[in-house]
Amino acid sequence: MIELKRIKELFRQLYSGGDPIYCFFSPGRINLIGEHIDYNGGYVLPLALSIGTYGLIRYRDDDIIQLRSLNADGEILINLSKDIKYDEQCKWSNYPCGVIKYLMDEGYSISGCDILFTSNLPINSGLSSSASIEILTGYMLLYRAFQDKINRIDLARLCQGAENEFIGVNCGIMDQFSIAMGKKDNAILLDCNTLQFKYIPVHLDKYSLIVIDTTKKRSLSNSEYNKRRIECEKVLHILRKHRNIENLCKAGIDDIYDYVGDDTLRRRARHVVTEQKRVLESVEMLKKGDVVSFGRLLAASHESLRNDYEVTGIELDTVVFEALNVEGCIGSRMTGAGFGGCAIALVENRTIDEFKKQVSKGYTKKTGLRADFYKCEISDGCRFIE
Ligand code: GLA
Repeated sequence: MIELKRIKELFRQLYSGGDPIYCFFSPGRINLIGEHIDYNGGYVLPLALSIGTYGLIRYRDDDIIQLRSLNADGEILINLSKDIKYDEQCKWSNYPCGVIKYLMDEGYSISGCDILFTSNLPINSGLSSSASIEILTGYMLLYRAFQDKINRIDLARLCQGAENEFIGVNCGIMDQFSIAMGKKDNAILLDCNTLQFKYIPVHLDKYSLIVIDTTKKRSLSNSEYNKRRIECEKVLHILRKHRNIENLCKAGIDDIYDYVGDDTLRRRARHVVTEQKRVLESVEMLKKGDVVSFGRLLAASHESLRNDYEVTGIELDTVVFEALNVEGCIGSRMTGAGFGGCAIALVENRTIDEFKKQVSKGYTKKTGLRADFYKCEISDGCRFIE
């Protein structure tokens, strides 16, 4: 747990000056199921976590923004009357800087402020630390004028735009949306085509969701991610010669066998279409309280991401394999973009300790890496704390 009092003290030491200092929280996210289909117009099922990024802010009456993070070196100074540019040297600050720039470009009137970030999310591990800091920055800056009337969906869209264009990662809307719109004890069934959504209560009976960090930092992810998107666009282009479909998630499996000749493209598309089906089935299973069938769908999703979409890698495959081998684990899969980062597992409560022990042992033996575990608690989206 973050000690806000201590962080406020640090804030006062780093930036002289008085009160008020406001505190905000922005969660990380996991995606229960529906991976790599947000940018194909599909349904996804993410949720906001109780771990995330904290932001302390003191508003100023000039055009200067100062940014610091307790998780990284360096102080960033922004003059709002000058153009904000991407900075190769200081990677983390590009996320808040991009959002500030996009807010101003959209015509919001932004005033100066001093900000201190701190996070208890493992960085670069697929729990969306970047979308978390993006939404947090936007939320804190808009709070001065709008308080709890901030339009969260507009903010999610704006932050996605900043990530696509300012950072250069062509991500979908899922991460920003779930971090802005999360609801305690619920997952969000989001139609990424229309942004219509429904909250789905997550009752897991005698099971818990465990997040397993492979501690393999996500590598290759941006270039491979963008490559997958291009492959999906190619398939859509082929299918549209024969069928009038809005996006790849609207295709049927027969369309893919009938019209897509290239083996790689066919497998990519098969993942998209079958994953879409698994999301809708998962929602039915969760509504019925059939946690065991939901677990099977998680495992099937991982298989598809490994064999057809090829975004897992040795670390995620090993951790999922080890997890499924433990008695009491009824489902496991990678979550997020893949290529390292985190997996999730559905584990019977009475075996959680044994689960951690066995997965740790097997994983370290095969990869030489350490696995970290978090019990997933589902929280509300980005918010003002005090
Ligand atoms: C990343 C992206 C999301 C989504 C997932 C994969 O987290 O930011 O938009 O595409 O990967 O499902």
